[in-house]
Formats: sequence, C-alpha cells, structure tokens
Amino acid sequence: MRENRSTPAGEHRPVLLEEVLAVLEPRPGEVVVDCTLGFGGHAGELLQRIGPEGRLIGFDLDQENLETVRERLTSIGHPFTLHHSNFAGIMRAIGQENLEGCDMVLADLGMSSMQVDDARRGFSYMREGPLDMRMDGSRGRTAADLLNTLPEDELASAFLEIGDEPQASEIAAAIVAIRGEMPLRTTKQLAKLIQEAAPVKVNPYPLPGEPKAWQQKIRPVARVFQALRILVNRELANLKELLRVLPTCLRPGGRVALISFHSGEDRLVKAAFKEGLRNGTYTATSDDPIRATYEERGMNPRSRSAKLRWAKRAEY
Ligand SMILES: C[S@@+](CC[C@H](N)C(=O)[O-])C[C@H]1O[C@@H](n2cnc3c(N)ncnc32)[C@H](O)[C@@H]1O
Repeated sequence: MRENRSTPAGEHRPVLLEEVLAVLEPRPGEVVVDCTLGFGGHAGELLQRIGPEGRLIGFDLDQENLETVRERLTSIGHPFTLHHSNFAGIMRAIGQENLEGCDMVLADLGMSSMQVDDARRGFSYMREGPLDMRMDGSRGRTAADLLNTLPEDELASAFLEIGDEPQASEIAAAIVAIRGEMPLRTTKQLAKLIQEAAPVKVNPYPLPGEPKAWQQKIRPVARVFQALRILVNRELANLKELLRVLPTCLRPGGRVALISFHSGEDRLVKAAFKEGLRNGTYTATSDDPIRATYEERGMNPRSRSAKLRWAKRAEY
C-alpha cells in the first residue's frame, strides 16, 4: 500500500469526477451538500451545474482548506455557504439554511492531497513533521497524544481492526516500550519504529501483478498511519452518523454518492445502503462499487483505492 500521492498531471483533479456527476445528475436549481470540500474540485463542478438558482452547502474540518476553496467557488459566482464543521452535523446545517432537505449529498472521505503534502500536519510518513494528524487543528487529541497515552491493547486493536495490520501487537508493544523512555513526537520517528518492530514478510511465491518487495516494505507503516489518522479524526464514527441521518437529509428522489478509501468505511456504506433498500428508504443503490478507470489510476495513484457507492432516496 503506497501513500496516496498525486502526479502533477492528476493534482487536484477530483477523484472519480465523471462517475460522481453521472450518479448525482445535478440539475439547475438543486441543493447540493458537499460534506468534504477539500480543494473544492467536486464542489466547483457541482456548483456550475446547479447554477445561480441552486445552492451549495459545503463542509470541511480543515480551516486552511476552507480559505482556499472559498476563493475558488467565489469565482464561479453562484450561491454557496461553507461550514467549518463536521459533516456529522449535516442536519443542523440544513436547518440553519432554512431548508427542509437537499437533492444531493457527496462525501469524498479521508484526507486531501493538500493535507498529506503539508509536513506540518503530520499525515505523511515520508515527510518529517509533528505527529499531529488532526484535520481540524483547533481541537481534539493529536496522534502523539494517543500514541503516548493509550493502553497497549487499545493501540494494538486499532492497528489490527482499523489498519488490518497483522503485526499490530508487535508494533503496539514497541510503542509502549519506547514511550517509557522518550515520548513519540515525529512522523519519521514512528515510521522507523514500525519498520523495526514489524519486519516485512515478503511472499516468496508472489502472484502475477502482486506488489514488489519494496512496496510491501512500507505496508505496515502505511497501515498504521492510516489507522492512526482514522482514530484521531473519529472517521468511522462520523461516517456512521452521516449514514444514519442521510435519509432524513435527502428530499424525495434525492441522490447520495460516497467515495471511500478504506475497506472498513466501504463496508459501512454498503451495509447502510443495503438496509435502506430493504426497508424502502432507498429505491436503488450500486450493487458493486464504481472504481477509477485505468487512465485515472495512471494519472492519479490516489484513485486506485477509491470506491464509489451511490443510493437514491424513495420518491415519498
Ligand atoms: C479527500 S478530501 C476531499 C477532496 C474534494 N472532493 C476535492 O474535490 O478536492 C477530504 C476532505 O474532507 C475533510 N473531512 C474529512 N472528514 C470530515 C468530516 N467529518 N467533516 C468535515 N470534513 C471532513 C478533510 O479535511 C479533507 O479536506
């Protein structure tokens, strides 16, 4: 698993853009909620399509992202409002806007390329920086706080259950051993510790197309960093809350598109849409996730693990 990095050509190109537009079918005058503005790539395309009579409501936990996106969307000239808050509070935001619901909801989960590229944020194991990892840098506990205080079994279960890391116990034990002498503070310090605690097990009989040995070498580091980021930002709890309130947010006939990059997230989305179809809240959902095309994968490595699922709210 490699860290998601965009090539210059694919930089800031929204993931699965054509596919998102095809499933959401934005029309002039509609109300759209972009739960995860990021650089505002999807939001800009949606805003152009809903036009001056429509309304876009956007969320991001990251104040720095919001400043960038505000400029970008303002240049389009159609109405929008931005919220520096968690998309789990989507119902409150819709109420504040005096709306009864929205026609479309999009969430492109995880972190943005701006966040991963900024060493000060501590999301990247390839850049030396403080172990922060908070999307909202103004509140909450940092990755360093969690690593230096959580009990060993809690760290191990996060690495195993969220990160799918088979050597979770060894890594958690190494963290607890070192923090007694010296607290963990930086990304490279953690990456080195993981590499030493979890020697890479290279498959001696790789299947055709399986990652090369050097790629496997960074797997435990990538898995643990992803698990920590999800833990720090309570990403699974936020997604569960969004899935719970979605049917109430969407107007009859409304559409939702969710892009995930983590198997646990995709399982939650799949289960919620399936249940919605069973109980009649949704009239249609994707059977299988929509994946990036070969061309997009080549241009933007981040898209390789992206899974898009959609659902359509019943007409009553
Ligand atoms: C993958 S990026 C979105 C990229 C965006 N679709 C674009 O076109 O540029 C995800 C963004 O969602 C934000 N985010 C993640 N979880 C959030 C949450 N619970 N509430 C609000 N924003 C969140 C992150 O800060 C990040 O900026």
